[in-house]
Amino acid sequence: MESTATAAFLPTELYRSEAVAALEREHYASRFWHPVAAAADLPPGHVRAVELLGMPVLLCHSGSGVVRAFRNRCPHRAVAFREPSEGTVACRRLVCPYHGWTYDLDGALLAAAREAEFVEPFDRGAWPLEGLGCQVRASLIWVAPGADPIPLDEQLDLPLREAAAALAQPLVPLAFHGQNLACNWKIAHDNTLDDYHVAIAHPTTLHRMQGPVRGYSHRFGTWANVLSTPWLETAADSARVDAEFLTFGLPPWNHLLVWPDGRLAMIQFLPKELNSCTMQVWLLGPEARRVEGEALMAEMVRFLNEDRALVESAQQGYGEGFRTGPPHRLEARILHQQAIYAALLGPWYASGRMPR
Ligand code: FES
Ligand SMILES: [Fe+2]
Repeated sequence: MESTATAAFLPTELYRSEAVAALEREHYASRFWHPVAAAADLPPGHVRAVELLGMPVLLCHSGSGVVRAFRNRCPHRAVAFREPSEGTVACRRLVCPYHGWTYDLDGALLAAAREAEFVEPFDRGAWPLEGLGCQVRASLIWVAPGADPIPLDEQLDLPLREAAAALAQPLVPLAFHGQNLACNWKIAHDNTLDDYHVAIAHPTTLHRMQGPVRGYSHRFGTWANVLSTPWLETAADSARVDAEFLTFGLPPWNHLLVWPDGRLAMIQFLPKELNSCTMQVWLLGPEARRVEGEALMAEMVRFLNEDRALVESAQQGYGEGFRTGPPHRLEARILHQQAIYAALLGPWYASGRMPR
């Protein structure tokens, strides 16, 4: 599909409204699947509590080998079974710390304390854990928080078409990095979709990896887009490696980097406050590269820190009355993702205040 980009950037008022942020959670973010953990970090017989869009979620890998996600709320009186601070824990049964209702990792109630003494006759089968959409793709566990998500294979349309082999490899986490940025998540997302700034702002870091601008090529799916650049690394025998480094932009706020050498990175900008977000970066690769993990992440953090100064400065400028200038051809990936945002939020936003 061709890009459905609009000819102007989103109005900056959308970056500073609490009402818009609430609409984003309800009608934009909830329509997508979200990577919440590396699949290799949740072996069979383990559970892990995470938070997604403010919702407590429990990931369970049962003995039957299926990874499931549940709302981390006991159906009796809403207490959480586990806390995110515990990390991944070996677990055969989930026992609620409040009154001891006990579940298997497939979400079925096995027993409740003093079961014969409920006020009304008690039916275990009527009280399973509340399940959420959960799938494993690209070695990550993806969860759908909403009732009506866009199918994950559609959300990942372009990566599945252009990097199917890389996404099918079972990879392990090589490193993880998280930090807060003092900007609205959209400024950070726009920046990571921006192929206009790389040569100027990252001359000795990302620009070296992506190579000359004349080698850039853009492709657009319905939901995802990609910048492809020739892979410039030479093999040990100095023969030129003929491959592409792929940088995918994905809704709602994600970026998937695919290197020809078997590495993947997932970068997310999770909304925090109106003027802040949390950047999370997973670097995944073959087991044999685990020793290099921290060094490879440090390379990424160098250009991400160059971006940090820019996005935090832009945030200062996106105040009342600021109107953005004209988009450049190399900013087409920003317009593509902003058109998706506008299409999903438009019907919910006061008419005439969203871009065409
Ligand atoms: S809240 Fe879990 S058993 Fe009561
Ligand atoms: Fe950048």
